[in-house]
Amino acid sequence: MKITDILKSDLYAGKTVFVTGGGSGINLGVAKTYASLGANVGICGRTMEKLEKAAAEIEEYGVKVFFDTADVRDADRLAEIMAKCEEEIGSISTLVCAAAGNFLCPAEQMSPNAFKTVVDIDLLGSFNACKAAHAQLKKTKGDIVFISAGMSYMPYAAQAHVGAAKSGIDNLMRNLALEWGPQGIRSNSIVPGPIEGTEGMKRLAPGELGKKLTSMIPLQRMGQAEDIGNAAAYLSSPLASYVTGTVLIVDGGQNLPGSGPFTMVAMEAMKQARG
Ligand code: COA
Repeated sequence: MKITDILKSDLYAGKTVFVTGGGSGINLGVAKTYASLGANVGICGRTMEKLEKAAAEIEEYGVKVFFDTADVRDADRLAEIMAKCEEEIGSISTLVCAAAGNFLCPAEQMSPNAFKTVVDIDLLGSFNACKAAHAQLKKTKGDIVFISAGMSYMPYAAQAHVGAAKSGIDNLMRNLALEWGPQGIRSNSIVPGPIEGTEGMKRLAPGELGKKLTSMIPLQRMGQAEDIGNAAAYLSSPLASYVTGTVLIVDGGQNLPGSGPFTMVAMEAMKQARG
């Protein structure tokens, strides 16, 4: 079933959605969902080649697309490209803070710079994007969707850096819901479960390990990027006009038994990587 069998295909017509890290994976899937509902889409990332390919895929929905390179750790660059995006495809009404970095590494082996790198990309990068888009969101009375993770509320082995970053993101999300709510801006997070075919899954649960992880998910399947796109499309829509400061978990129940199943898979993945 397609989202447009349920929601109107012009739900986001005339609106602009900006997705950081929108060149691939879950983030590109989310960008495409908004495009399928008529939104013009802006994306940024570090690699022009990836962005060009992603932009061509989004353009197939017949919407305007803006893309440019930016590392979310560079606040000035984000401000520059979001201003350019506004000129080219209109003021941002939804910002999706999605750019992220991840790798498996036990805390005792992690360098301070490795920890800082993930916190900088995920948390500081989200803050930078919110600051850069704030004036536009105020104008449009828009919303922010953060892509969080189960690590935000539960410890996962070899994910200390990600846990710190994602907990910070969910707290930032609530802070902005509080501070920017009176300006008409809503702010929410989505916690995706394992999503098939993504860079994250390649890194965290490659090959057979992915199948093992899937067998331990209550709904017995990995998520698709569309599952996350559907949740985002709901959160930004008038259906959620009274929803702010909330975390929407879209994980097939993966986190219900705790992080033990993931830990088993992560330990095996690290063992395989060592050879
Ligand atoms: N295990 C342990 N430490 C690692 C690591 C790993 N697998 N990969 C990188 N690091 C460390 C580096 O050694 C470095 O620390 P050091 O200076 O003390 O040696 C630090 O992390 C920064 O690495 P660097 O490669 O310079 O960072 P970067 O900014 O170029 O890349 C990453 C950021 C590391 C997150 C990289 O994996 C990335 O670009 N990821 C984006 C894609 C992604 O992760 N997608 C999945 C999202 S769920």
